[in-house]
Amino acid sequence: MIDVQHLSRRFGPHLAVDDISFRLERGEVVGFLGPNGAGKTTTMRMLTGFLPPSGGTVRVDGFDVLKDSLAVRARIGYLPESVPLYRELRVQEMLWFQGRLRGLSRAEARRRTGVVLERVGLAERARSLIGCLSKGQRQRVGLAVALLPEPEVLVLDEPTSGLDPLQRLEVRALIRELSKERTVLLSSHILPEIEATCPRVIILQRGHIAADGTQTELVARLGGGGFVRLELARPVELERARTDLAALSGVHSVEAQLLADGNAACEVRGEGDLRGALGALAHARGWTVRELSWQRPTLEKLFTHIAFELEHEHPAGSVRAAPPSAEGAA
Ligand SMILES: Nc1ncnc2c1ncn2[C@@H]1O[C@H](COP(=O)(O)OP(=O)(O)O)[C@@H](O)[C@H]1O
Ligand SMILES: [Mg+2]
Repeated sequence: MIDVQHLSRRFGPHLAVDDISFRLERGEVVGFLGPNGAGKTTTMRMLTGFLPPSGGTVRVDGFDVLKDSLAVRARIGYLPESVPLYRELRVQEMLWFQGRLRGLSRAEARRRTGVVLERVGLAERARSLIGCLSKGQRQRVGLAVALLPEPEVLVLDEPTSGLDPLQRLEVRALIRELSKERTVLLSSHILPEIEATCPRVIILQRGHIAADGTQTELVARLGGGGFVRLELARPVELERARTDLAALSGVHSVEAQLLADGNAACEVRGEGDLRGALGALAHARGWTVRELSWQRPTLEKLFTHIAFELEHEHPAGSVRAAPPSAEGAA
């Protein structure tokens, strides 16, 4: 659905996006994760035809973003990082206006306005002044604008930034709902945001793709697999427990230690989730189990790991620069 090949963007000597390639299949929901300044917004502006690339191509549903920009804009709903809203307009007026800008007829703009306001849960605020809305509601208006052309693709740039935790949950739920029937690229510098919404993640760091895969794949590549955490109530014969656990079939390693309160914590790694076998052993030995849980390595760890590796490859201060003859900043 989206095909990005060798995409680059320079601002003066600064290479903000450096030769990135990726594809989004129809219906995929992909998180675009990276620290501030990584190049997420620049990439998204190029995908949606708002910023010409310095090099490379973007195709949306087969249409080239430069050569067929109208066809592309008809297919992509874009929520920019800071939504330009007109505070003195009423919500519905703003949407009519935006619909007309996108080439809808007057009647069609009105019809679509009703549909999208319903969709984002703002139908009853249609006549409110935009300036009187909460930040979360304004973000919904931005989403409504993005939905106007009935797009198959949504490109959402930090849709929950600046919202309070409750608004954040609401907008997140709405995005999850919207992504059921669409292809979505969603950027954030907040990890849990992406973790909760996107099965696949592209991590961008200093204009490069540092990782691209499903959360499970990325975590596995990290050397991952999960482990079972078993906590036993005192009194515990630690060495005995360790030996018994290690002797179980499927167990590869056991780390066991006494906690300050005298209980014992064990991390058991092996072939998958061994909670059943561990529970049975604890029962047979008469151990009192305080916790028996499957611990999944998180994207958080992965993110830190990647950021750390990249820091070593390209230490801060050695940001790659294009030759001085590069075109001027936009
Ligand atoms: N219009 C611009 N002119 C000059 N530099 C820019 C412009 N837009 C972005 N940049 C630079 O490009 C880099 C990437 O920015 P951006 O794409 O906004 O990152 P992100 O969205 O990941 O925070 C940053 O170093 C930023 O300062
Ligand atoms: Mg940004």
